[in-house]
Amino acid sequence: MARTSRIPGFYKRPLEERVRLVAEWAGLDDADVTALRESLALAQADKMIENVVGRHALPLGLGLNFIINGREVLVPMSVEEPSVVAAVSNAARIARSGGGFLTGSTEPIMIGQIQVLDVPDPRAAQAALHRAKADILRRVDDIHPSLVRRGGGARDLRVRYLPHTPVGPMLVVHLYLDVRDAMGANLVNTAVEGIAPLVERLTRGRVNLRILSNYTTERRAWAVVRIPVDAFSEKGARGEEVARGIVEANAFAWADPYRAATHNKGIMNGIDAVAIATGNDWRAIEAAAHAWAARDGQYRALTEWYIMGDTLVGKLELPLAVGIVGGATKVHPTARVALKILDVHRAQDLAEIMVAVGLAQNLAALRALASEGIQRGHMRMHARQVAIAAGAVGEEIDIVAARLAEEGNVRESRAREIVEEMRGND
Ligand code: MEV
Repeated sequence: MARTSRIPGFYKRPLEERVRLVAEWAGLDDADVTALRESLALAQADKMIENVVGRHALPLGLGLNFIINGREVLVPMSVEEPSVVAAVSNAARIARSGGGFLTGSTEPIMIGQIQVLDVPDPRAAQAALHRAKADILRRVDDIHPSLVRRGGGARDLRVRYLPHTPVGPMLVVHLYLDVRDAMGANLVNTAVEGIAPLVERLTRGRVNLRILSNYTTERRAWAVVRIPVDAFSEKGARGEEVARGIVEANAFAWADPYRAATHNKGIMNGIDAVAIATGNDWRAIEAAAHAWAARDGQYRALTEWYIMGDTLVGKLELPLAVGIVGGATKVHPTARVALKILDVHRAQDLAEIMVAVGLAQNLAALRALASEGIQRGHMRMHARQVAIAAGAVGEEIDIVAARLAEEGNVRESRAREIVEEMRGND
């Protein structure tokens, strides 16, 4: 049977059955299932950071319905906010009518920076660095022989001159390093620390910082989605009106930083959730995304949406540094299982899925905002949670949630009354 990420009614099934389904779907073994249930052991947590006194758990959900480059994908997402997973799954379902998402990415090239001050002759220093470039790159490769064996290594060296800073002029040396399947922070930091003494000699200056840049402009991923506008027709709303509303919403975020911050936050709801689920550094991803959003001097929407004929086209591109080896990706048991569910074998594949998720998340938000608003959907999800908290189980949950939403009174006390009423009626 062909594998599909379209699993109608998944959310209604009991949790244990959902776990069984994903285990079958992704070929998870007993240890993987245990990892999903128990996550990180205290002893492992104690080795990850300092001063550990416990663990801080988050729910792990599955984004459904994704087709990415023709492949069916289930997306593990870890997030505290209700509605994010439901919304992205809904958008991915709509995107199926256009064949899903197409994605691409650059090679995984990170940038390391070396700050050089007190350079007596900046022009001569730049010339010396250019002359020594091949030698410097060779030294970097000598520092990381196993990275070179895996197909990565030093790619380029460029020099920037910052004439006006609060402490006077400085040179900034950029090292470009292909880090393959790692996020790469450690690889880059070791490399720039390793070549800094040589840079100091060549420039006759004084090196201060040696650190990666989180603005990973050479390591980008993008996703495109094309959806027939008819796919947005529902409850009296014409598909083309909803599609036009989405384009108008995007224009708002392109022109206005106040809206752009919220718009991009919605995109990052999806991207960060996958980053957390897979043990990646979401602060690094956030930093890159927002710097990229301001690349022309004004902070803008990261996405583009336009209508071509009777098709709505959406695009998202951003710098995205994620790894599938090293860091928490392999140490954290749930992150390891998340990568298994995603079935990714290159860091680039993970980055591409994340951009598709970001684009779907944005589509979900704009579609809701440009039609019924987001509160109704939020209220539905919230009502389900309140129903569960009030003790509703199985089929009761949806019935209680629907009553709460209908009455506009989403309180646990009311939910408890409805549950008692229902049970008393049996
Ligand atoms: C909420 O977490 C995210 C949204 O505000 C995003 C947006 O407004 O585009 C719904």
